[in-house]
Amino acid sequence: MAYSMARETLGLTQRGQIDTPQISFAAIEIDLVKWKGDMLAVGVTEKDMAKDENLKFKNSILLKLDKQLGGLLSEASSEEDFTGKVGQSTVLRLPGLGSKRIGLIGLGSTPSEIVSYRNLGETLGEAAKTSKSSKIAITLSSSEGLSAKSKIAIASAIATGVVLGTYEDNRFKSEPKKLSLKSVEILGLGTGSEIDKKLKCAEDVCSGIIFGKELVNAPANVLTPGILAGEAMRIAFDYSDVFTATILDVEQCKQLKMGSYLGVAAASANPPHFIHLCYKPPGGAVKTKLALVGKGLTFDSGGYNIKTGPACLIELMKFDMGGAAAVFGAAKSLGQIKPAGVEVHFIVAACENMISGTGMRPGDIVTASNGKTIEVNNTDAEGRLTLADALVYACNQDVGKIVDLATLTGACVVALGRSIAGVFTPSDDLAKEVLAASEVTGEKLWRMPMEESYWESMKSEVADMVNTGGREGGAITAALFLKQFVDEKVQWMHIDMAGPVWNDKNKSATGFGVATLVEWVLNNSS
Ligand code: BES
Ligand code: MN
Ligand code: ZN
Repeated sequence: MAYSMARETLGLTQRGQIDTPQISFAAIEIDLVKWKGDMLAVGVTEKDMAKDENLKFKNSILLKLDKQLGGLLSEASSEEDFTGKVGQSTVLRLPGLGSKRIGLIGLGSTPSEIVSYRNLGETLGEAAKTSKSSKIAITLSSSEGLSAKSKIAIASAIATGVVLGTYEDNRFKSEPKKLSLKSVEILGLGTGSEIDKKLKCAEDVCSGIIFGKELVNAPANVLTPGILAGEAMRIAFDYSDVFTATILDVEQCKQLKMGSYLGVAAASANPPHFIHLCYKPPGGAVKTKLALVGKGLTFDSGGYNIKTGPACLIELMKFDMGGAAAVFGAAKSLGQIKPAGVEVHFIVAACENMISGTGMRPGDIVTASNGKTIEVNNTDAEGRLTLADALVYACNQDVGKIVDLATLTGACVVALGRSIAGVFTPSDDLAKEVLAASEVTGEKLWRMPMEESYWESMKSEVADMVNTGGREGGAITAALFLKQFVDEKVQWMHIDMAGPVWNDKNKSATGFGVATLVEWVLNNSS
């Protein structure tokens, strides 16, 4: 059923088997020199690398390992200039231990934030990949001062880092690489059901992040609106105990008067699909109702205001469904975690922004499902047009809070760069909640002003509003536009993730948003 909507793929590209890395994690206690496996890694701070006048480690764990290895560890670390800086790693292949290799991984000067441990995990994952290790272990050289609670949080951050650090999207290579890493043992951070539960939760979040990355990485000829709907239906099918799916076709969207969304979709040969997943907790009792709305442009050509010029990034516009990917990634994670007391709606008005004789013209007036009319002075400001009807629909689900995520404006990238997403909300309470969640996950958010006086530039002579103001404050006027479609009774936040959706260095999706959304929903559960 999930694939009944799929058209034959343009260009005959077939996505390879999804080979999501199956790495198992366990928290155990064992004498380090007795541990057996491919690589034993130690996370060290710069302070841990200090040596006394006899060039011996002051740190007891490093001293013990070094003794076992006849001083090779201190020798190698000074020869290789390993000082424990962030991202530094050194791996030695050595006899004399149960482990085939020993690795030192830098944690920096004082790892105060949880992201330091996620980065440690990523470096570890990369080292495991390079050495083709299958079974590895990680410990910290100084963990004495840490509370049981922070040890659990650190273990989970390391596990997350390892999964994401080893992951490579090989689906579109004719000869995909196989992942060697199978098991990770976390030593010295405690044992028991609580840490095991947290590690399982980290795995669930990672599977959502990887799913989100795969949706964004998939090219627009493969991931059409119909296929995106199919992927959403598969989530509902895989976790059918907690999910139901509703997919609306063009006719049904017409009945709901979604003229703004359908205007954007009008040029496309791949029909739009309005996607709505609903999560209801096992047992049924619900205290809080939330909605997550994602921009789902599987491709954004700009329409008649076509994207031109070298910096327009048209060849990357497959990532214009990054908001939808964050929302469905979170859905996949939550389907596994199954939090109690919270109902969550996942809403995406999926379509393409293309050019054809049936398409929307600059200057056209469209009418959204709340009756407001919009003069489309720029067809490239299409995301807000699709979100308008998605937000009206979300408000009709009787929810108390809505968060929308969208790769909405280049202006937000200019304002905050590639690492930070802009947050817009009239609600201080909701801002507090979501920013607190993002602090735990390490995803960077920055609250921006909703400057009402800028609405001036969005006024139209012929309709209720235009869809684009001037160049100045473009991320803010976009947020003010969205506000026109949100019920005042509902707490609402818009996250502009145009910068963080994509990692320009490794030419790949980041999975941005999934972790913070899951954390926020869990904080709203009971
Ligand atoms: N999807 C783009 C925004 C975007 C641009 C994301 C670059 C990532 C990188 C959006 O649909 C768009 O085209 N926005 C226009 C709005 C303008 C016409 C008011 C923009 O930002 O240029
Ligand atoms: Mn656009
Ligand atoms: Zn767009």
